[in-house]
Amino acid sequence: MDRIAITGGAQLNGTIPVSGAKNSAIKLMAASLLTDQPLRLTNMPRLADTRFLGKLLTRLGVSVTESDGPDGQETVLHAPEITSGFAPYDLVRQMRASFNVLGPLVARSGQAKVSLPGGCTIGARPVDLHLQAIEALGAKIDLHEGYVYAQAPRGLKGAEIVFPIVSVGATEHAMLAAVLADGVTVIKNAACEPELVDLQECLNAMGAKVEGAGTPTVTITGVARLNGASHSVIPDRIEMGTYAVAAAMAGGEVRLTKARPELIESLSVKLEEAGATVVRTEDGVIVKRNGSRLNAVDLETAPFPGFATDLQAQFMALMTTANGESRIRETIFENRFMHAPELMRLGADISVHGGEARVRGVAQLEGAEVMATDLRASVSLVIAGLVARGETVVSRIYHLDRGFERLEEKLGACGAQVRRIKGDGEPEL
Ligand code: EPZ
Repeated sequence: MDRIAITGGAQLNGTIPVSGAKNSAIKLMAASLLTDQPLRLTNMPRLADTRFLGKLLTRLGVSVTESDGPDGQETVLHAPEITSGFAPYDLVRQMRASFNVLGPLVARSGQAKVSLPGGCTIGARPVDLHLQAIEALGAKIDLHEGYVYAQAPRGLKGAEIVFPIVSVGATEHAMLAAVLADGVTVIKNAACEPELVDLQECLNAMGAKVEGAGTPTVTITGVARLNGASHSVIPDRIEMGTYAVAAAMAGGEVRLTKARPELIESLSVKLEEAGATVVRTEDGVIVKRNGSRLNAVDLETAPFPGFATDLQAQFMALMTTANGESRIRETIFENRFMHAPELMRLGADISVHGGEARVRGVAQLEGAEVMATDLRASVSLVIAGLVARGETVVSRIYHLDRGFERLEEKLGACGAQVRRIKGDGEPEL
């Protein structure tokens, strides 16, 4: 398997264009199941996760065509008919968000058999709220041998769905199912993440009637059929935030473009509090740090517009060399500190007590061999490697390939010493 080697010490100077958001793209791809007309998605990231989902959608009857068009990377998804309502375990377990095909399949063809996604390294991540939503819309749900069997032969019916906790995936799933339901659906305590607004815009371009995404109440008036549409995927706020942290860590000046500064406001505030300079521009941010050491700052993850859990590992890496002690509280997932012991292999001083990590900044990290168990944890090790003395080698980078497009190229263009070491095909232990 491939690994990434980083030689620490180089400042970052240059421009990084931000890609389309993985976590939006994969829900938008699932929306293609809702219509017999082609859905054209532009600003599409090319990632392992979009490839996984493309493979599953193809099995369900969707033709998936990738090309480089006048608007950059695009994917056209076309499902003239649903040829199978079966999403098998071997595909769903590779990428949890594949579970979101359940709602569109039931909405369009009245039935589906979709594998439960199973466990995850960052937390239990149940799908009870997804099932609660689809059931509220009138589907009969049975669970057997690891599979969800859902049936709504006479179609879904609009309903009130009140989520007991905020869930991005369950809110998106409910929207994806309710657009073709008969009547009005009101989702209360909805997640407010920008990816939901993106999904609303795409669904409405397809002829749906969705209002309120980005607020805690989303209202959907069902329509009988949806059309094809063309939609540009929202910029990836987590990728933007990751490179912003990388620039603050390595020093220098990096301009992030093709993005939206308001999507990372809670991170920008923390970066400024720590002593980096963040200049908001029309299409992104410029992040600078010249010389002086950053200060430790505390943070707590929260649903949008709070500090994103998907940026927590990166910020922890930043705090490993800051001046003082930083307290980092993770409130979204129960096991999202798996990067801490790996950062400690690089010389970081971190202790974890339940949902809180204390990071005492050290003057210098040292390169080492490390590995990580999820996407954002992996990139936090790359960020730490940017300042560690000597070479840091990160293995299991298939996690990185799931969510960061051309990472070595983007960082390399700004002067980072990052290279991919091609594997020998042997699986890593
Ligand atoms: C999305 O996951 C993202 N993934 C995650 O990014 C992100 O960390 C998360 O939202 C929070 O922002 C995708 O969009 C593909 P949730 P999701 O449902 O939708 C609990 C990355 O690295 N919950 O908002 O799965 C759950 O266990 C990934 O790109 C239930 O209890 O997150 C968690 O504690 C990692 N029952 C909390 O809700 C349910 O049915 C919030 O999870 C669903 C969720």
